[in-house]
Amino acid sequence: MKLRLGVLGSGKGSNLRAIVECINDGRLNAEVRLVLSDVANAGILDLARDLNIPAMYVRPGRFRTKLDPEVEQDMVRLLNEADVELVVLAGFMRILKGALLSSFAHRIINIHPSLLPKYPGLEAWKQALKSGEKETGCTVHYVDNGIDTGPIIAQKKVSIEPDDTPERLHARIQKAEHELLPMVIADLQGSAGG
Ligand code: GAR
Repeated sequence: MKLRLGVLGSGKGSNLRAIVECINDGRLNAEVRLVLSDVANAGILDLARDLNIPAMYVRPGRFRTKLDPEVEQDMVRLLNEADVELVVLAGFMRILKGALLSSFAHRIINIHPSLLPKYPGLEAWKQALKSGEKETGCTVHYVDNGIDTGPIIAQKKVSIEPDDTPERLHARIQKAEHELLPMVIADLQGSAGG
């Protein structure tokens, strides 16, 4: 049985692309049933439409860092209507607080561009570079109501070169993300007995 995914994103959607590529070449037995974004002109929505995946903008409401409670409820409804089993946050830049967490308990994962618990929040690669770290990486974790907190599932390390720029480092971290996230989804699919 294919694992039915719902993907939430606010950005360009390169992690969505990586998931779909792994599905297409048979490394991941899953299907993306729905893509939702809180950003009307996010690249992830265009990408989803190009890939013939149902995609929708959800107006986030009155807060800057979280969603209105009724918006979370709407998203739960949409994800349930699409029969989604696992929700993947692929660059979704808002904290979840209510209905999504309770309805998809232990069924929401997030990818973050640092070796958590170090450097949660925005532009984590810049934080790691500024702190003089020799290595950083990316983390996939279960989502709770904090900022990039929740039980860690897997991490992939990326070394920081002496002459690294934020752009170069971020690009290498993203490459690691594109390997790690589909692999974790495949593992979850396997352990779900699918
Ligand atoms: C990814 O690097 C992801 O780790 C990050 O947003 C980017 C989305 O890229 N997420 C966070 O920082 C979450 N705190 P994408 O739109 O190309 O997949």
